[in-house]
Amino acid sequence: MTAAMSRTQVGIVGAGPAGLLLGRLLTLQGIDCVIVENRGRSYVEARQRAGVIEHRIADLLRSAGVGARLDRLGLVHNGIYLQFDGSRHHLDFKDLTGRTVTVYAQTEIVKDLLATELPVSFDVTDTRVDPSGSVLSYVDADGRPHEVTCDIIAGCDGFHGISRAAVPGRTEWQRDFPYAWLGILADVPPSTDELIYANHPHGFALHSLRSPTVSRLYLQVPPDEPLSAWPHERIWDELATRFALPGWTLRRGPITDVSITPMRVFVTTPMRHGRLFLAGDSAHIVPPTGAKGLNLALADAALLAEGITEFIRHSRPDLLDAYSDSRQEHVWRAVHFAVWMTEMLHTAPDPFAAELQRSQLRYVASSRAMATSLAENYTGY
Ligand code: FAD
Ligand code: PHB
Repeated sequence: MTAAMSRTQVGIVGAGPAGLLLGRLLTLQGIDCVIVENRGRSYVEARQRAGVIEHRIADLLRSAGVGARLDRLGLVHNGIYLQFDGSRHHLDFKDLTGRTVTVYAQTEIVKDLLATELPVSFDVTDTRVDPSGSVLSYVDADGRPHEVTCDIIAGCDGFHGISRAAVPGRTEWQRDFPYAWLGILADVPPSTDELIYANHPHGFALHSLRSPTVSRLYLQVPPDEPLSAWPHERIWDELATRFALPGWTLRRGPITDVSITPMRVFVTTPMRHGRLFLAGDSAHIVPPTGAKGLNLALADAALLAEGITEFIRHSRPDLLDAYSDSRQEHVWRAVHFAVWMTEMLHTAPDPFAAELQRSQLRYVASSRAMATSLAENYTGY
């Protein structure tokens, strides 16, 4: 079948948070775009992932006109709890930095963006970007091939996407941690008012939430753990053990979703080749312990939208030229913070490391300077 030929200003690969926000911001500027996504809409809307958004990112979503549900349903948190050695310590971000975070699910952000009726083609296959970055080709859900000539292509197709490979001569860093996160979503009111990050001899545990009636919890598990090793009763028992505290009980309820996520760092640079730009997880992955991945992806999209607008509207390439270096600075700050949080909270590799870890935890819980550093990074530096 011959390919349908068309033109657009910006071709976007991937309808995750980065691709959708980029599409939304460009549309608000009157710039034409096409978004292609290899999954179906219902899959994209249901995918369970992040939950914590930084103060400034919440403002960004409001300025993109998708803040109404966030303001109605998002839960503003003033801090987090750190638990270790059988006690729980509150870190008050509001007091330490004047800033808060909002707990609002990534799936809801995706739904809010999709409700703005962006031009997304779902269920495409065989997506390709040509090395010069000006042609995006794909096969649509009906099997029809397309070739779209673009002024700019944005690779927002996540860690497993195809765009990154079209950046020749790139440098990549990767570190895989020797553990994974088993995440659950449960129809039960949260047993805590703010997130609990717990270090326990059995491994790390995180109590997060989604709403007054839905809890989100995570357990550190071995990296290649099969889900079959974790019947629901075992998950709740292990969570109860890792969060145990006198006078406190973990509420249990029906588990509606279970998944396992590997823990890794991945960074590629530059985030550009010619007219192809990378944004979000296609260019960088941080372990979720720092709650940074979604925030980075949305911040990439915002800067890229600004750069593209300047370039297309006013023929000014300066912002686009600075995009990769500018974002790398933020990415490496987030990588450092996420690795620090990860190594402080997960099972230490040896007894010496375990002593250093406990000393670090005690220091964070007792020093205003250390707590402020954590708070500054967590709420968005
Ligand atoms: P993605 O969400 O991966 O979207 C990429 C899209 O591209 C997908 O829809 C994919 O289907 C599509 N795609 C892939 N290949 C192709 C192709 N060839 N053609 C077309 N489309 C394609 N971050 C935080 O900030 N805070 C948190 O609390 C947090 N918690 C997390 C907890 C877990 C368990 C996990 C797994 C992640 C967490 N993150 C968190 C990270 C966050 O979810 C990601 O960083 C975020 O999804 C990145 O968005 P993205 O749009 O760049 O990529
Ligand atoms: C989540 O709610 O899914 C979540 C919260 C904080 C993290 C990671 C995930 O650090």
